[in-house]
Amino acid sequence: MAILRLQGISKNFGAVAALTDVDLEVDAGQVVAIVGDNGAGKSTLVKVLSGVHSPDGGRIAFEGREVTIPGPAAAHRLGIATVFQDLALCENLNVIENLFLGQELSPFRLDDVAMEVRSWELLRQLSAKLPAVRLPVAALSGGQRQTVAIARSLLGDPKIIILDEPTAALGVAQTAEVLNLIDRLRENGHGVVMISHNMSDVRAVADQVVVLRLGRNSGVFDARTTSSEEIVAAITGAGDNAVTQRAARSETVDRSGMAGGAW
Ligand SMILES: Nc1ncnc2c1ncn2[C@@H]1O[C@H](COP(=O)(O)OP(=O)(O)OP(=O)(O)O)[C@@H](O)[C@H]1O
Ligand SMILES: [Mg+2]
Repeated sequence: MAILRLQGISKNFGAVAALTDVDLEVDAGQVVAIVGDNGAGKSTLVKVLSGVHSPDGGRIAFEGREVTIPGPAAAHRLGIATVFQDLALCENLNVIENLFLGQELSPFRLDDVAMEVRSWELLRQLSAKLPAVRLPVAALSGGQRQTVAIARSLLGDPKIIILDEPTAALGVAQTAEVLNLIDRLRENGHGVVMISHNMSDVRAVADQVVVLRLGRNSGVFDARTTSSEEIVAAITGAGDNAVTQRAARSETVDRSGMAGGAW
């Protein structure tokens, strides 16, 4: 059973139909990449899942139960964590302080030792390489910051983790590091939703690729068996243009000719 299932989700902003009748399913231990051109509705879909926007139509089921996600706190309670593209880390605070910002372990005082132990636990869970946890985030690389943001999302023990463009600002080595983290999340049984513009990242780490185009589903593909060209065609709607339609028609004629003739 899918942990998360969206059916027929729609969201309008005035006259703009940002999402129309969108379906999505995410299983435990599965990485689903959401791809699509600028304005395709990817961020809007993430915001519906993280409780930032309420959908205008459609249904959301979490672990088989129909739910609404009226706000970020509701998403958190359900077990949906989102790492937004800007990461929302505090530069001047160290890694531990960033991990526990606003949710310190003890309700009465900061238990420093417990927080440090838990920080290393979280990082170990991700097999993450950080030089120290008492270093200010300002001193970390882009990949290390992404690591901190992902580790923080694990604190509420979520079932689903949503990553918005996790490798967008990263170099080659740091990208590999973050893709490794995503592999760890899958191994640990999380359902991961990853938004990406980068086809090689998607093919490196995703199990399934969901394409959005102009706010609608434009195909669901198995990341292992589908070529980048097929995915790009779904992103750009290449199947809609006259040349590919003609090619498809002549292929149908050929096949039917074969069926009726030589065979
Ligand atoms: N708060 C908003 N108010 C009005 N229109 C919006 C709002 N948010 C998104 N839109 C519109 O909805 C459509 C989908 O936008 P969205 O940000 O979800 O696309 P995206 O796939 O994330 O694009 P990108 O790759 O550029 O981030 C766009 O036409 C956008 O202009
Ligand atoms: Mg976006």
